[in-house]
Amino acid sequence: MASLLEIDRLSVRFGAAEAVRSLSLHLDEGEVLGLVGESGSGKSVTALAVMQLLGPAAQTEGSIRFTSQNAGPVDLLQLRAEPMRRLRGREMAMIFQEPMTALNPVMPVGEQIAEAIRTHQPEKPRSQVREAVLEAMSAVALPDPARRAQDYPHQFSGGQRQRIMIAMAIANRPRLLIADEPTTALDVTVQKQILELLASLRERFGLAMLFISHDLAVVSQVSDRVAVMRHGLLLEEASRATLFSRPAHPYTRALLGAIPTMETDIHQPLATLERSHESEALPLREVETGHIARIS
Ligand SMILES: Nc1ncnc2c1ncn2[C@@H]1O[C@H](COP(=O)(O)OP(=O)(O)O)[C@@H](O)[C@H]1O
Ligand SMILES: [Mg+2]
Repeated sequence: MASLLEIDRLSVRFGAAEAVRSLSLHLDEGEVLGLVGESGSGKSVTALAVMQLLGPAAQTEGSIRFTSQNAGPVDLLQLRAEPMRRLRGREMAMIFQEPMTALNPVMPVGEQIAEAIRTHQPEKPRSQVREAVLEAMSAVALPDPARRAQDYPHQFSGGQRQRIMIAMAIANRPRLLIADEPTTALDVTVQKQILELLASLRERFGLAMLFISHDLAVVSQVSDRVAVMRHGLLLEEASRATLFSRPAHPYTRALLGAIPTMETDIHQPLATLERSHESEALPLREVETGHIARIS
């Protein structure tokens, strides 16, 4: 598969604080990479760096190569604001934990999806925009799109609002979707439905995904490969199967131990995550083909 996204030694600083430390990750077309780590490990900062939404306080180093369908290979960190705007929302899109903050409360949802389409395809005739809106709404399994397009965000449930955000994100058929904790605010049943939806959209549109969660169990449901981050550093990366069967880093093992299974009693306290800073300082090494970790 062709490479779509290549993050190469990305560092992001906010003043003296280093949120992301020389991070390298790659994503092939149509592939799903899970990014997991406890709160504050630099997952969202990485996502925002790719989308170029970090704001002026952030100092970045390294490169983020994206293979654009329209512009060819580009370094997103070097790209000017205008070409970046053309990519964002068109070739790459992002969904967040809390859809309510990203939706306009006083605009019907169909109108918001239409706006996302018109921004990038201003030449599209009205009737085709409307058609595309309804298509996006049915792609995310929102029932009765023609009628519900006129409703406002507060008239939908939390899970439905996340579906609307996903409809907006895929309306222009991007090749990369960044999903940052997309199910964290949802209850378990709805969470499962959204994960199934993302998996089906990936199949249907050949969508590559950077799927971010603090929850390894959630990440494992959708990812081909999993990258474990902590304190801004990549600690381990492997295929999902390898990471689960042969985790090499103690932190990954601790995360795995913290996943409640049928065998573990959910009333017992979760395994305490090991706090070893020494192993973070180790360089990444190849444990086996396609499996790297910071271990000695
Ligand atoms: N705009 C910002 N200004 C200063 N520090 C920030 C900013 N955004 C994130 N950080 C810091 O960067 C680190 C990584 O944050 P983040 O990427 O949001 O973590 P995660 O998404 O893994 O929970 C945290 O220590 C956070 O406080
Ligand atoms: Mg985050």
